[in-house]
Amino acid sequence: MRVLVLYASKMGGTEGIAKQVRDAFVDRGLTADVVDLADARSLDGYDAAVIGSGLYATRWRRPARRFVRRHVEALQAMPVWFFSSGPLDPTAAEHDIPPVGQVHSLMECVGARGHATFGGRLPADAKGFPARAMAKKNAGDWRDAEQIRSWGNQIVDDLISLAPVSPQ
Ligand SMILES: Cc1cc2nc3c(=O)[nH]c(=O)nc-3n(C[C@H](O)[C@H](O)[C@H](O)COP(=O)(O)O)c2cc1C
Repeated sequence: MRVLVLYASKMGGTEGIAKQVRDAFVDRGLTADVVDLADARSLDGYDAAVIGSGLYATRWRRPARRFVRRHVEALQAMPVWFFSSGPLDPTAAEHDIPPVGQVHSLMECVGARGHATFGGRLPADAKGFPARAMAKKNAGDWRDAEQIRSWGNQIVDDLISLAPVSPQ
């Protein structure tokens, strides 16, 4: 079983989550790769995919939206999960936060099996106008390693139940 974890990240927070999801898969015996959506070209050779993006103004970043739209058929043919990273407070670890409308529509397009919202990260030295202004009040790291690992483990359980042979 080979899984591709794809991410769109501007400031590195979502990249870190994607790598933790990949690590959860590898620890359970799956083969998993993690790739920046800016470099992703195809899903060839993979049995399942996880796609995530940081949220900016209640939207996924463009490379994530574009990849899903360009690969609808391939994604429809495999199990797919989405995640978003954003809230700069503890809420994402406290309760399930549903996908924003745009991500919900993309999930419907490809028949995604699930979605998780993870807390975000905003560096105190964030560059650029809106980020720097936000960082004065909202800098911090709300990514929850346990929540991320547990979500990765749920996906492995689902994949095992979909393919009754042991993952390789
Ligand atoms: C300009 C700006 C707009 C943002 N808009 C949202 C938003 O609409 N919803 C949300 O939950 N988080 C929002 N965030 C928080 C980011 O999603 C969070 O910092 C995330 O971890 C960024 O991911 P990245 O480090 O992978 O780029 C925003 C952050 C910035 C700087």
